[in-house]
Amino acid sequence: MIYLDSAATTLKKPASVARAVAWAVNNLSSPGRGGHAAAMAAAEEAYACRCAAARLFKMRNPENVVITCSATHALNIAIKTLARRGDRVIISGYEHNSVTRPLHGIGAHVVVAGSELFEPEMALHAFERRLTDDTKLVVCNHVSNVFGYIQPIERIAEACRARGVPFIVDASQSAGVCEIDFERIGADFICMPGHKGLYGPQGTGLLLCARVPKTLLQGGTGSQSALVEMPEMLPDRAEAGTHNMPGIAGLRAGIEFVEKKRVQKIMAHEHSLVDFAAGELVKRDGVRVFVSEYGYCQSGVLSFCVDKMDCEIVGEELARRNIAVRAGLHCAPLAHKTAGTFETGTVRVSLSVFNTKGHIRAFLDALDEILKKR
Ligand code: ALA
Repeated sequence: MIYLDSAATTLKKPASVARAVAWAVNNLSSPGRGGHAAAMAAAEEAYACRCAAARLFKMRNPENVVITCSATHALNIAIKTLARRGDRVIISGYEHNSVTRPLHGIGAHVVVAGSELFEPEMALHAFERRLTDDTKLVVCNHVSNVFGYIQPIERIAEACRARGVPFIVDASQSAGVCEIDFERIGADFICMPGHKGLYGPQGTGLLLCARVPKTLLQGGTGSQSALVEMPEMLPDRAEAGTHNMPGIAGLRAGIEFVEKKRVQKIMAHEHSLVDFAAGELVKRDGVRVFVSEYGYCQSGVLSFCVDKMDCEIVGEELARRNIAVRAGLHCAPLAHKTAGTFETGTVRVSLSVFNTKGHIRAFLDALDEILKKR
C-alpha cells in the first residue's frame, strides 16, 4: 500500500519507535508508584520524553509538558481551563471538531474569524477585527488538517497578548513539521497528538502549558497521596491515572527521530512532494486543486476535488488500487464551510518524511485510471 494519509496518523514509524514500545512493555511499570527499579525506570523514561519535547518545542521547563492520550484530550483540558458557558471565544475558520465540539459542549459563544484559504494577512485581520474587550479566549490551528494551510499563529498570538486574551494553539498538523518555539509564540497552551508528525504511537498526545490547567480527570498521581485534591504542580495535576508507558517511550523515540531529521528538512521534503503533486494535478481536466500560490503557507497536505465525482468514490477507487488517502469532511466541517467545499468534501493527500516522488507518481497513475473511467 502507498500510504498518503499521514494527517490522520503516520503509519510508517521509525524502527526505534517500535523497539522503544516493546522495551517499555517488558521493562517499565509506573512512574511514582514504587521505589523499585521498574518504577524508577518508568519515571526516568517519562521525564526523558518531556525533556525531548521541551527541546523540540524550545520550552524552558520540561515539567510543563503534560502527556495526554491525544490532541483531543489536550484540547479539552486547555479549552475547559479557559472558557465557560456564554464566553465569547474566537476561532479560525479552519478548526477541527476537536476544537468546535468542546466549545459547543460547554456552551461558549463561538465567533468564527473566517478568511480565505492561504491568505495569512487576511486571517490575522479577521482575528484583530473580532478581538473585543469581552473576548475570553482565542483558539487557532497552526495548520489546517484539510488543506495544509499554515496560519500565522505567532502574529495572532501577538494580537491576543496586546488585548490580554488567552490563546490556545492546536498544533495537531504542525508538530514535527513546522518550527514551534513555545516561548516565542507565548500561547497559554499548545496541544498536539503524538501519532502524527512526531511519529509516536496512537494513544499519545502533548499539552504544552504556560499556566496550570484545570483538571479534567482526578485520580492517583503517585504524588502527594494524602491530599483529597489533585496536586497543584505540573505535570501531576493533569496526569491522573497510570501512564501509558509504551506510548510514552515510543513517543520519545519519535520526537528524537524528528530532532535528528530536523523539522525544516522534513517540511522541505514534504513540501517539495506537495508541489510536485499539485503541479501534476492541475494539468488534469476537471480536477480542482487547493494550493497556495506561492507555497509559503502550505505544509505536506493537499486537497483536491474531481468534477462530477463524489470525493468518497475517488477515495474508495484509490484504495482499491492500494493508494491510501482520506476523502470527505475530515472531521473538520467548519474548514470545508470556510473553503466552500462543505457540499462536496475533498480528497486529501497527506505526507510524511517517508514518502517519495515514486509514491506521488503511483498515486497520479491510479488517479488517471479513475479519471479515464469517469
Ligand atoms: N484529524 C485527523 C485527520 O485529519 C484524524 O484525518
